Amino acid sequence: MRIDVVSIFPAFFDVLDVSLLGKARSAGILDVRVHDLRDWTHDRHRTVDDTPYGGGAGMVMKPEPWGLALDEIAGPPAPDAAAPDGPDAPIIIFPSPAGEVFTQATARELSGASHLVFGCGRYEGIDERVFEYAKTLGSVRLVSLGDYVLNGGEVAVMAMIEAVGRLLPGVVGNPESLVEESHEEGLLEYPSYTKPSTWRGRDVPEVLLSGNHGAIAAWRHEQQVERTRVRRPDLLRETD
Ligand code: ADE
Repeated sequence: MRIDVVSIFPAFFDVLDVSLLGKARSAGILDVRVHDLRDWTHDRHRTVDDTPYGGGAGMVMKPEPWGLALDEIAGPPAPDAAAPDGPDAPIIIFPSPAGEVFTQATARELSGASHLVFGCGRYEGIDERVFEYAKTLGSVRLVSLGDYVLNGGEVAVMAMIEAVGRLLPGVVGNPESLVEESHEEGLLEYPSYTKPSTWRGRDVPEVLLSGNHGAIAAWRHEQQVERTRVRRPDLLRETD
């Protein structure tokens, strides 16, 4: 999978060289290219923002550098001005607290794409015309990490790249661990224990030492349902 990231703080993404994603990059499973938006400016100050039309607080990211960056990375525009949706058309993702919420289902969906482009906004956001223009280059998604506000899209994009990247074949050593984790079945993950069987006066639940695989599976499922009921009842309502 190819992933391009456009940001005014490319150093945020240096950590993509470590851990499993770093290995996936070295192995050629993940081709991540990080770009500095200012490389597409042409003035002495490498300006990427300006005051908002209509007034208001803060600055808005100018459309020109974004247009040039997207042309180079995701372009060229489709000749008939129709939204390109073929298998090679990139998915262009703008992290935004005003977007659809990113879930494990979103990660699964994006993991099937061949080319993702992430555009990281800062300040009060990006000139709205950039989103419209991007639709001539690929399918556009505004995606939120959750109902809170970050200073910019970089941290959100890091989270999304990790969630998507670990679903690519060959990134996580044991694919079974992807099935048995939180959110894969609409439930939270069951609790895990390792040796020693007693630690600081606390015992591992008896059933896990029993060797009875049926009983263990049933106990784990109960734990999943109970945890989800207590911590995330909204997930149970979704599967009703
Ligand atoms: N940018 C600022 N806040 C964000 C959020 N919650 N999710 C995605 N991008 C953001």
